[in-house]
Amino acid sequence: MDPSFFSSKSFLIFVACSLLMVPVLVYVFRTDSKYVEVCDENNGECYSASIPYRDSKLSVEERLDDLMGRMTIAEKIGQMALIEKNSIKDPDDIAKYGLGALVSGGGGKPADNSPAGWLGMVNDFQSYSQKTRLGIPLFYGIDANHGHGNVIGATIFPHSIGLGASGDPDLVREVAKATAEEVANTGINWIYSPDMDVALDMRWGRVYETFGSDPEVAGVLGAAYIEGTQSFDLGGQKVAAAAKHYVGNGSTKWGSAMSKDYFIDQGDSDISEEEMRRIHIAPFQKAVDVGVKSVMVGLNRWNGEKVSADKHLITDILKEEMGFQGFVVSDWYGVYDKESDRYDATVRAINAGVDIAMLPYNYKYFSDSMHKALANGDISQARVDDAVRRILKAKFEIGLFDENTADVYDLEVVGCEPHRELARKAVRQSLVLLKNNGTVPISKNTPKIFVSGSAADNIGKQSGGWTVEWQGVDGNWLPGTTILQGIKNAASPASKVEYNLSGDFDSLEGLADIGIAVVGEEPYAEGWGDNPNPILSAEDLESIANLKKHSKKIVVIIISGRPLDIKPYAKDWDAIIAAWLPGSEGQGVADVLFGDYAFMGTLPVEWEL
Ligand code: BGC
Repeated sequence: MDPSFFSSKSFLIFVACSLLMVPVLVYVFRTDSKYVEVCDENNGECYSASIPYRDSKLSVEERLDDLMGRMTIAEKIGQMALIEKNSIKDPDDIAKYGLGALVSGGGGKPADNSPAGWLGMVNDFQSYSQKTRLGIPLFYGIDANHGHGNVIGATIFPHSIGLGASGDPDLVREVAKATAEEVANTGINWIYSPDMDVALDMRWGRVYETFGSDPEVAGVLGAAYIEGTQSFDLGGQKVAAAAKHYVGNGSTKWGSAMSKDYFIDQGDSDISEEEMRRIHIAPFQKAVDVGVKSVMVGLNRWNGEKVSADKHLITDILKEEMGFQGFVVSDWYGVYDKESDRYDATVRAINAGVDIAMLPYNYKYFSDSMHKALANGDISQARVDDAVRRILKAKFEIGLFDENTADVYDLEVVGCEPHRELARKAVRQSLVLLKNNGTVPISKNTPKIFVSGSAADNIGKQSGGWTVEWQGVDGNWLPGTTILQGIKNAASPASKVEYNLSGDFDSLEGLADIGIAVVGEEPYAEGWGDNPNPILSAEDLESIANLKKHSKKIVVIIISGRPLDIKPYAKDWDAIIAAWLPGSEGQGVADVLFGDYAFMGTLPVEWEL
């Protein structure tokens, strides 16, 4: 027996109960063991018996039945709460409230934003879950929608819009699996990807998080992403995917957002059910078919009603008709957002079919209102049991209750060379040649090349939103290769490459054989990127104009999360490339630009020139 048992709480309770002659049946001495000491109240003899829910040889159903039978109402309610990690003021609350899940939102990083810092933080939170009576492990969720993007040093893959341009499910599967490997090795077991929204309005700030405008592509690539994520296995521990945002975000109307800062994100759509099913629900069927563990419901509304409180969409269609066996999570503050009566909002969302509420702040309030709702009969015990069963089923299925046989986290995989090579390949496959009058590919022996533009030498900009910070970052302090560096690496040593941000090459003699402008959008995320008129900035247009004065021909490479209106200028440019938000591996742009690989991408959204 573990010697620490004699100073443990279990031992003190055991002694106290024995002295009081209270019949003592079962004590869990160690929550991480498959065995429990059972003491006979008549003769005081203790022996070791197995705890079914901890026994990996039993089926998930058997383990679930056993665990559910042991849980109190409070423990069940705790499993239904998803808390933003900075809102945990006292980590003992994880045990006190039996909390089931924590989230790091965009930029929700540890003080030490390194792979080791993340692993330490997540494992520390996890250790509090092991102090509970039943030792139910936490889900720790994060947005890893273009690699493990919050972590400094991670591989930053192209955003989904670029993967959509590649149209290649095998590539997407590989990218997702590599991402899951980086995520799992920092102790995290749940990611909020893939985004299976269908982007129809290019003014929306989340276009780049999607695979594009085609529901079929969203479904096929989303399903591949889920397969890749959920197939990674670290000593028996896996990563759960979350298909999001169920459903209809791509059709919200301009001006319908209820947030004063947004125009369209989190807005309302008034489409018919037929259209909702055909365009927006259809991709999610493919997610269900490949066994996605969770689905996140969006912050949007449909015909004025919040989707997160819509029983028809969540329970009738997703769970019953489509056969979704996983659990439903609401989006950030989605249950309470714009609600005056938070008790009523909780009741509506849970009864609609939300299983885990991304509160994400006030778990005490949630716990109180759930207890009240059960006591009042506003939420049934059966609904809570169904939610908790779904959550725990996923926890069992991804191995959270079982020993990690790898028993070691390999922090070296975060940002490792093979993943960077894969990201570079993904960049190559995502590039779309929008226009070419015979200018690209560029010869590596081109004598003189001038490069300009705000996105030429900026890893932050080429990575876009959801990179270290929610709204992305600026500059070259993340590991990776800028597009400028990629161009320099690809051109032959005899070729002279000159760079000037604003295209001011007045001090240099003669014209460049080729001018390459790398221009585009500043990073943004969600509603902050809603934009009535996505265009190039005046500075970028000026830098292109300057470059043109100094070059025989110009190639314009656009770094953006969506099509930009370049109609007034496109005729003046010799070649135009849509590079989307390629991420950390800018070399992939140069690989194609200089002809080592062909252009393969096709437009995932409409782009008029
Ligand atoms: C976004 C989700 C994201 C969640 C957690 C929300 O603001 O809408 O896509 O998964 O935050 O970061």
